[in-house]
Amino acid sequence: GRVKPRNDEHFNILLPLHIRRFRSCLSTLSCSLGEDVDPTPNSYFPKRGLTLELVTNSPYCGGCKTQNLSYEAQLRAKEEQVRDLLIHVGRFSREQLQLHGVIKPIVPFDIQFHYRNEMEFSFGPRRWLPKELLQDRRADDDVGNNENYALGLHAPGFFDKILNVDNCLLQSHPANKVLAAVQECWRDPQLGFSPYSVHSHKGFLKHLMLRTGRDVTTYQPEVMVNFVTSSYKPELLKFLVDKVSVFPEVVSVVNNVNTSVGEEEYTLYGKSSITETLRGCTFQISANSFFQTNTYQAEVLYKLIEDCAGVRGDGSEIVLDLFCGTGTIGLTLARSDRHVYGYEVVPQAITDAHLNAKINGIKKCNICPGRSQ
Ligand SMILES: C[S@@+](CC[C@H](N)C(=O)[O-])C[C@H]1O[C@@H](n2cnc3c(N)ncnc32)[C@H](O)[C@@H]1O
Repeated sequence: GRVKPRNDEHFNILLPLHIRRFRSCLSTLSCSLGEDVDPTPNSYFPKRGLTLELVTNSPYCGGCKTQNLSYEAQLRAKEEQVRDLLIHVGRFSREQLQLHGVIKPIVPFDIQFHYRNEMEFSFGPRRWLPKELLQDRRADDDVGNNENYALGLHAPGFFDKILNVDNCLLQSHPANKVLAAVQECWRDPQLGFSPYSVHSHKGFLKHLMLRTGRDVTTYQPEVMVNFVTSSYKPELLKFLVDKVSVFPEVVSVVNNVNTSVGEEEYTLYGKSSITETLRGCTFQISANSFFQTNTYQAEVLYKLIEDCAGVRGDGSEIVLDLFCGTGTIGLTLARSDRHVYGYEVVPQAITDAHLNAKINGIKKCNICPGRSQ
């Protein structure tokens, strides 16, 4: 392909092109919520009043800029965004795109909430509020500094403005329980936590990353909690680790220590990875390896890739999985008698890809460290 994918999840560019932008995040403004989400696992949709309120608030949340559009309008906007990307970065002409059917229609999804299997919330020393709610901010200021600490998502376009989020309608219900448990206690001055400031580079807690997978035998949710901190202080984190590990869904608590010299990972509770299944294969997902953020649509996407690739499955073909991450596309294609080569730059993802090949009994698959150009 002529388009260079970015090393993040905003754009997944595959050949043939099926492009999704699922970075949107519908989140709550903690100060304006009057209702709660139905917590039953099978209820994907929030109560009507809440939905309307959230949709009104969504432009304030950097992860959630398009949720005030209808789903159909979101799809049209995403398609236009992809078209622009192919024209301006990929250097296709509009005629080429039309003539060769390079862009296929976006495949819609009928679940629009609680579908994301991964969210990253940021800690910050001061919560941000939109202008309309500044009155509340002044009231908050009187309460004391800790009460103003933020844990949430960034305001659109700002790396240093954090909107407090108590309940995110895009992540799983078990992940929301963990978020709520952390929100409930971490500001307590007696616990001694300090949020990291991107300006002063001081403070301990940087991010709370929550990933949700499934136990491959029971299909029950498995949650990984990753506290990203600026230094290694397991005795300080212990309170939060104990707090979140009481949830039966939490099977892994890890601590990524992220300093100016690099990143280290420690497992503080349970396993160092969680599992998920896709198209009959089992995948181990560790804290930093890429995994499609919408598991349900990944099934659909990978089936489309197989159909579009038109592989014969008679053992005569070689599949190249460039930008392979943990090898999910190649491995789901490798179930029949083909050889798959995957190329990836992140060492942890390569390790996971090898492990994934092994646990699925796939021998005809080589995952190589390598930069795809
Ligand atoms: C969006 S992820 C997609 C992973 C996988 N194809 C999937 O669908 O799950 C892109 C991956 O490409 C990797 N990557 C980025 N630049 C690369 C390069 N130049 N060569 C090889 N891999 C690269 C990233 O580390 C990341 O794991």
